[in-house]
Amino acid sequence: MSTTSDDGAETAESIRSRHREAADDVVPEHTQLYIGGEWQDAASGETFDTLNPTTGEVLASVARGGEADVDRAVEAARDAYDEEWSETSRAERQAILTEIADRVEEHQEELATLETLDNGKTLMEARIDVEGVAEQFRFFAGATNSRSGHTRDEPGVHGEVIREPYGVVGQIIPWNFPLAMASWKLAPALAAGNCSVLKPAEQTPLSVLRFLEIVDDVVPDGVVNVVTGYGEEAGDPLSRHEGVRKLAFTGSTAVGKQIMRNAAENVTDVTLELGGKSPIVVHADADPEEAVGVIAMAIFANTGECCEAGSRLFVHEDVAEPILEGLIGAAEGMTVGDPLKEETDVGPKVSQEQVERTMRYLESAKEGGATFLAGGDAPDDEALAGGCFVTPTLVEGLDHDHEAVQEEIFGPVLEVFRWDDYDEMMELANDVDYGLAGGVITNDLELADRTARDIEAGYIWVNTWHEMSPGLPYGGYKQSGIGRELSVETLDYYTQAKSVKYGLE
Ligand code: NAI
Ligand code: MG
Repeated sequence: MSTTSDDGAETAESIRSRHREAADDVVPEHTQLYIGGEWQDAASGETFDTLNPTTGEVLASVARGGEADVDRAVEAARDAYDEEWSETSRAERQAILTEIADRVEEHQEELATLETLDNGKTLMEARIDVEGVAEQFRFFAGATNSRSGHTRDEPGVHGEVIREPYGVVGQIIPWNFPLAMASWKLAPALAAGNCSVLKPAEQTPLSVLRFLEIVDDVVPDGVVNVVTGYGEEAGDPLSRHEGVRKLAFTGSTAVGKQIMRNAAENVTDVTLELGGKSPIVVHADADPEEAVGVIAMAIFANTGECCEAGSRLFVHEDVAEPILEGLIGAAEGMTVGDPLKEETDVGPKVSQEQVERTMRYLESAKEGGATFLAGGDAPDDEALAGGCFVTPTLVEGLDHDHEAVQEEIFGPVLEVFRWDDYDEMMELANDVDYGLAGGVITNDLELADRTARDIEAGYIWVNTWHEMSPGLPYGGYKQSGIGRELSVETLDYYTQAKSVKYGLE
């Protein structure tokens, strides 16, 4: 095959040509702003490049949206809301969301490949993401009928509570699950009857643009608008726009706080899904082999770029040896490499900036006296030298108040702590600013229940990780966020209550 060297081994060139070929098939035709159902250049005429983190090559140039574009998009959303969308029935919206789900399923492999090229996640992971996108639209198609207002009556009193959409919502999403995060935002917003202005992350705009090409004739003009661009240039004006009546953001805690400050200018309602530093608690009765499988998935899936990753392991002393031995084997046995290849377990991180961030934390961990049980560097493979690769890493021996333990690394880095006193362990497990998720590994139902209740976080896994079913609300305690996604109550966050009181004589 021309894509490998003479001895059949992978080379940087063989990876590049595989990726160029795939890109030719799936990079969208339109890489502009999507406003009022039309593809438009940015008002400034400027573009920016999105890169392929496996090869470092440019995948596409995309419109660089700014304040004037946000203004146009909000206006288009408002017009669509006033003229058409606010008049739609639940059944009409349900049919549209269902058709979107069908289209996504028809284009699954293409969307997954595009996600792999733009983000670096493995094709296997990208396929799961795209399945989840269809599931999300299907769930909220059904959920449109699950919420409505109610009446309040007693002798001499009659009133009704109407749940009204906000009209125009602004939605800002990150790069770790680009299309999935778009669906988490768009599906409930549309189901509840809102129009959206969505800003994808600058690292990964392409799958959302291709998605809009695919559903262009399904969604009425102006109901979904996409402004691509940088956070400061396109996200910031969106979060300050007085025509936006509700903001939803997923990303870093620092930017989440800024969004909340911006929202305060117009007293705009806001939901936030921010970072995490989630504890995995392993009890003494855990089966080591099963525990290793769950832990490896918790931290290494999606190259550790998951807000809900299990990144702090609290393992009971009695089972620490076999579990750590198993984890070292798992980490060292993982295939790090080209995410388009089926046998790859761990793809690149999304960007060089993210590699540097992870490496800064690993440097700091070394200075803090950490022992590296596995990984901690770039893979020793010439073919991967042009990409954003980091090896699966296990670290032990850090103080729990060290910055590498307290802060979100967002890479394939697990920090290990051994325990024998439950209360002391739980104090540490909860001793972070975050509270997004957590997990417990045990076969004892009472222990599972107790630990699930003791962890201060919004989502707890028992003997598994990352699995999220629509219907189970997802969101954070503490500085991990405000609000809940993925469930029928999400619709409450996209509507506001209006009371109508009748005067009865
Ligand atoms: P970020 O929070 O800057 O980016 C998320 C989104 O916010 C992007 O669409 C970005 O363009 C936008 N944004 C950035 N600055 C903005 C501003 N001033 N106003 C409005 N929108 C703005 O995250 P970044 O810098 O890409 O990653 C930094 C760290 O954040 C990661 O290493 C990770 O720890 C965390 N993160 C957490 C995520 C999560 O799912 N909770 C997702 C992505 C990052
Ligand atoms: Mg990219």
